[in-house]
Amino acid sequence: MINNIQKYIEEVIAFTANTKDDVEQFRIKFASKKGIITQLFADFKLVPNEQKKEFGQKMNELKNLVQEKIDSLLNNLENKSESTSNVDYTLPGDSINLGSRHPLSIVRNEIVSIFNRLGFTISEGPEIEDDWHVFSALNFPEEHPARDMQDTFFIEKHPDILLRTHTSSVQVRVMENQKPPIRTISPGRVFRNEAISARSHCIFHQIEGLYIDENVSFADLKQTLLYFAKELFGEHTKIRLRPSFFPFTEPSAEMDITCSLCGGKGCNVCKHSGWLEILGCGMVDPNVLESCGIDSKKYTGFAFGMGIERITMLKYGIRDIRLFFENDLRFLKQFKSCV
Ligand code: PHE
Repeated sequence: MINNIQKYIEEVIAFTANTKDDVEQFRIKFASKKGIITQLFADFKLVPNEQKKEFGQKMNELKNLVQEKIDSLLNNLENKSESTSNVDYTLPGDSINLGSRHPLSIVRNEIVSIFNRLGFTISEGPEIEDDWHVFSALNFPEEHPARDMQDTFFIEKHPDILLRTHTSSVQVRVMENQKPPIRTISPGRVFRNEAISARSHCIFHQIEGLYIDENVSFADLKQTLLYFAKELFGEHTKIRLRPSFFPFTEPSAEMDITCSLCGGKGCNVCKHSGWLEILGCGMVDPNVLESCGIDSKKYTGFAFGMGIERITMLKYGIRDIRLFFENDLRFLKQFKSCV
């Protein structure tokens, strides 16, 4: 019997394995419940007393050897599988897909930076507003059509709570909370209950500006807007102001720029007039200043407001406003090189 154990010991020492499966077979043969070692321990009682000591030592030797063998074989196979895996570490890495800014963000950032250079700060406010900040403080008469359900989204059952139709509401908040001089622009999303078409959408973005101080004049407004137009559309851009009406400004005007596509010669974008309308503006109505707690005898101010979609469409020759909201990658990818 001792000779048998010695044979097993030799067998264990000589054993090699190529796969984990080989090791498992080896373990089953020697170290499982019905394996050789269990069997030997069961046979131990048959061993004559005088041989028990030697036999026991040999059995323990075999048992330890089997365990060490299993551990070392598994260890080797693990290391081997790492070093021989199919990964080629010399291959170039996967390229990272860079996103692009949304065209509306590109143009908004550009406009914001122009007015930053003129000393305007940025103010933001809530998209869900009350009647006071969107209409009443801005001198809208009770019966003004903009207050109609047809033009404004009201929050159900709350006739006083609505989605802002312009970011002038932010300027009311600024006037209520700050003392002049005030020089600020408010970019943001606005909502109007309009049918969606290639030219209009129920969601769009505005940037409105406000400047209030002593002795602010219409000439200041005109010069500020001329600088802005040249910075955004190029040095050769000219502006023209046409009389208009807004409840919150007096006098009011609409500003055109020379068509950025044909340079003023006339094309189908400017409907052969050579001019493109881009914003509304005017001197802040004294009633508005008083509503917001600003002394209209001491201070005057100008305000202006523009739609970012319209300006982006003019700048990039985009013909359908709906493209801005569809998130079609074929459209968005075209702005990759713009910052
Ligand atoms: N709030 C106006 C609009 O939404 C734009 C505007 C702002 C006009 C300031 C004049 C002065 O159309």
